[in-house]
Amino acid sequence: MERRNEQTIDFETGKRVVVMTGGTAGLGAHALNYLATQSDMKMIVGARGSGRTVPSGVEVLPLDLASLASVRAFAEMVKRWLGTIRIDMLILNAGMQYGNNERKSEDGYELTFAVNHLAHYLLVRLLLPCMADYGRVVITTSDTHDPAIAPIAPKELALQELAHPTKTGFGTGIRAYAASKLCNLMTAQYLSKLKEVADHHLTIIAFNPGFTGGTSLGRDSSPFSRMIVTVLIHTVFRLVGLFRPEYVMGKPDRAGKALAEIAMGDITPPEGRMYVSLVRSKATWPDPSALAQDGDAQEMLWRESEWMVGIKKEV
Ligand SMILES: NC(=O)c1ccc[n+]([C@@H]2O[C@H](COP(=O)([O-])OP(=O)(O)OC[C@H]3O[C@@H](n4cnc5c(N)ncnc54)[C@H](OP(=O)(O)O)[C@@H]3O)[C@@H](O)[C@H]2O)c1
Repeated sequence: MERRNEQTIDFETGKRVVVMTGGTAGLGAHALNYLATQSDMKMIVGARGSGRTVPSGVEVLPLDLASLASVRAFAEMVKRWLGTIRIDMLILNAGMQYGNNERKSEDGYELTFAVNHLAHYLLVRLLLPCMADYGRVVITTSDTHDPAIAPIAPKELALQELAHPTKTGFGTGIRAYAASKLCNLMTAQYLSKLKEVADHHLTIIAFNPGFTGGTSLGRDSSPFSRMIVTVLIHTVFRLVGLFRPEYVMGKPDRAGKALAEIAMGDITPPEGRMYVSLVRSKATWPDPSALAQDGDAQEMLWRESEWMVGIKKEV
């Protein structure tokens, strides 16, 4: 591992090009490390702040997903630096879970919805034209989107309430998180049906790493919320995990390796499947929740998000 400053990219021909978010911590850092062990990779990671530690050879470009202007600037920088070179793997893995739904993004949207969904929606819209034929787009979602697995999962898609919540208080942070992960999954599904995706033979995959310990996902939650989660992990989840394997906690290195393997095509979807869920560290291909599969709801999310990020007339 070494510290890198911003520098020019030498794009040798024959390298597979990876553009990634969420590669600086948690399971994404493990994915990035695994990708970096492959000799034919050229990787760009979007990350907040400066002086981020990444594997040797990985380029870091500034990206704060809490700002749509930053997402646009990142996409422009990626395009400029790539020139005519195409992206083989676009890995949209960054995500955050906050203690409540009271924080706002730079653009005035609820922060979880803005960072986890809107920013990635905009990024994939801006970078899709730069994808190489037969490339892969992987969007990290969560099985917390599914009411059959997580009681806090949304039963309806109330977009204005997600973007500008009127109900606040205890439990709203985790609910906002689950809803944002539903949006990630629905975005992936809508994307997979686009003509340009078929024309360029792109594979779109929504990845659920499953319940994974040892990451910093809930680091912005209050000490009280973190204590409740810790107690749940050591009591209720252990018991439920005896008959519901989705509640068995996995390790970040396993989840990260799986993410890298999915992006590289070493794990491939069976015919007609695009949602991969790690259960006891194994890739399974379940149905998303009924709401996640609802084509009308996907269409509404796509169109409303288009307005929210301001690309209605641009893309
Ligand atoms: N852990 C689980 O149990 C679990 C389960 C299902 C799904 N997931 C999903 O897996 C993905 C990775 O989660 P994790 O558990 O590995 O969490 P993590 O350790 O907190 O890593 C999150 C990553 O997202 C980046 N990020 C967060 N906010 C950002 C922003 N505003 N701008 C740019 N980057 C930002 C972080 O960057 P910094 O280094 O700057 O903070 C970090 O690289 C997330 O999408 C999460 O929803 C996790």
